[in-house]
Amino acid sequence: MPTTRASDPWADAATAALTERGAGLLRLDVDPDTDGADRAALATVVRRAVEGAGELAGVLSLLPLDESAHARYPATPRGFAATQTLLQALGDAAVTAPLWCATRGAVSTGPSDPLTHPLQAQVWGLGRVAAEEVPERWGGLVDLPQAADRRSRGRLADVLAGLDGEEQVAVRPAGVFANRLVRAPWHEPARDPAWAPCGTVLITGGTGALGGYVARWLAGNGAEHLLLVSRRGPAAPASTPSRPNSATGAPG
Ligand SMILES: NC(=O)c1ccc[n+]([C@@H]2O[C@H](COP(=O)([O-])OP(=O)(O)OC[C@H]3O[C@@H](n4cnc5c(N)ncnc54)[C@H](OP(=O)(O)O)[C@@H]3O)[C@@H](O)[C@H]2O)c1
Repeated sequence: MPTTRASDPWADAATAALTERGAGLLRLDVDPDTDGADRAALATVVRRAVEGAGELAGVLSLLPLDESAHARYPATPRGFAATQTLLQALGDAAVTAPLWCATRGAVSTGPSDPLTHPLQAQVWGLGRVAAEEVPERWGGLVDLPQAADRRSRGRLADVLAGLDGEEQVAVRPAGVFANRLVRAPWHEPARDPAWAPCGTVLITGGTGALGGYVARWLAGNGAEHLLLVSRRGPAAPASTPSRPNSATGAPG
């Protein structure tokens, strides 16, 4: 069952990809401002859509592709908010089929693959939490390429069919990429600091626990003036000049 914002080209492409593989589809076009904005309303929409449909094999959501501002919380993309609502609504509607969420440009596979849609990366954060909290109905995350060509559509279908059991993947023109931890190359640390402060250095949050350490390091390495800012300014407890604790070196 794909849930979509119908206007994105990947909505039709994903539908075609799954139809070409013989999947029976229930397509649900969700308006994030109405259905997607409210958990109970979306659960009702989902319940109606799946009524009599038999057991679902999976749910693919393209809601994360919508980066427009949420009506009440403009700093939040509508698609991200709707994804969380969908996750809850599927549970409320007793849909236990695994949910896959699709993004585009939310992850990078390497230096030649720039991350073009960092707003959608929020869904990758949400998805990893969902994988821990509701593993029984979580499918995975798939990052789509710009072009919804035939080859990419086929790769999306492969991923949804359980390709190699991977659940965090990026579909690219060169193939399907999965994330791996690799050892970082070891570089001998430079003897001298690569960056030598000079002039005035601004330290935001400079009156907090770490601010004192940072300020002392900067002063010891050549900063001529330090500008420490915070809401309380000189009224902050740590603003009182004091000597470092002789036992620990911690600022007093
Ligand atoms: N301490 C650690 O071991 C540690 C480890 C890893 C990461 N960090 C991160 O490093 C950062 C600093 O840590 P910290 O331990 O020094 O924290 P802290 O002791 O709570 O200090 C925070 C500083 O930021 C200022 N501040 C807070 N909200 C502000 C705002 N809205 N506008 C302007 N200034 C603001 C505070 O002063 P006012 O309240 O007066 O504004 C204070 O000077 C935090 O983000 C923390 O999560 C800390």
